Amino acid sequence: MNEQQFIPKKYSNTIDTGKFSWSSPSNIALVKYWGKKQDQLPENPSISFTLENCKTITTLSFSNRNLTSDFSFDIYLDNEKKDDFKPKIETFFKRIEVYLPFLKNYHFVIETTNTFPHSSGIASSASGMSALAMCLMSLEKQLNPEMTTSYFNQKASFLARLGSGSACRSVEGDLIVWGHHENIEGSTNLYGIKYPYEVHDIFKNYQDTILLVDKGEKQVSSTVGHNLMHNHPFASERFKQAHENLDELIQVLKNGDVNSFINIVESEALTLHAMMMTSLPYFILMKPNTLEIINKIWKFRNNTGLPISFTLDAGANVHVLYPEKHAAPILEFIKNELVAYCQNGHYICDKIGFGAKQL
Ligand code: PMV
Repeated sequence: MNEQQFIPKKYSNTIDTGKFSWSSPSNIALVKYWGKKQDQLPENPSISFTLENCKTITTLSFSNRNLTSDFSFDIYLDNEKKDDFKPKIETFFKRIEVYLPFLKNYHFVIETTNTFPHSSGIASSASGMSALAMCLMSLEKQLNPEMTTSYFNQKASFLARLGSGSACRSVEGDLIVWGHHENIEGSTNLYGIKYPYEVHDIFKNYQDTILLVDKGEKQVSSTVGHNLMHNHPFASERFKQAHENLDELIQVLKNGDVNSFINIVESEALTLHAMMMTSLPYFILMKPNTLEIINKIWKFRNNTGLPISFTLDAGANVHVLYPEKHAAPILEFIKNELVAYCQNGHYICDKIGFGAKQL
């Protein structure tokens, strides 16, 4: 398995103009990806729940033009032209051009919108890059109609990864593994795969209520954070631990052991932030209210025995995870005791989803 398989041979069809629309979700990692090599190749394998409600919807319109040496595109967010997004897309196009050699043959209009508020502190790069990758693959499928669905999804995930690492876990659902793990068949650093083993019913329909603690721009970007794992004093132990946690999760997902699930997922979240705090330079993305919420969750869990847990992304927001069958008392607790710690009382009710959809 290598990158070469994604370099197309000569296309059998031509197409002059058209447009495709896809919606693609965000995802939340259970075992975290933090630290990368060249070309967004991960230092360790990760696994995530695909989400359902936090999505990006992208329409890609294209028209044939005379080949020049530059890419040609305009990008709009919520109908507003966004020239400040152009460098990111330009870099993405440069990285994927060898895999999509038609890119310079077209002028593209990229129109995009998110279902979650723009300034929610929820990263739109996973959903945004995967939605764009899906649209580009729809165009490639017109040029090569024999393409199979499995190749389509693999290559979409592979391209999305080159836009933003974790975006490769947003193409399909409901549990996605990205990064090679010796006990997970088919797992690869190149793209995300559907988790291939048995999953207990308790983990189907898992709920994720996202508490928006801080909606501001984060002080340290993921790109900078990943790079600080180079020469990090705990890096090799951390990468080893991710392999071990994923190994343990295979059994846990099969036998429905929610307590072990909670231990792994919460430890992963705190380890991610511990890596940030022990980087040089060090930084903290949690806020006082993040800790208030975590302590309240632990207290509530101790008092009720309900399987509520939390995880964190590279930010201050808290993802509250729980099985659907316990949703009523847990939502009640969230509304009564946790929402007070959210900025303007804002939170988003999400749950496990099944990946990108063509519109
Ligand atoms: O995809 P990136 O480069 O934005 O990195 C995301 C990393 C985390 O969200 C912190 C963890 C993960 O596995 O999603």
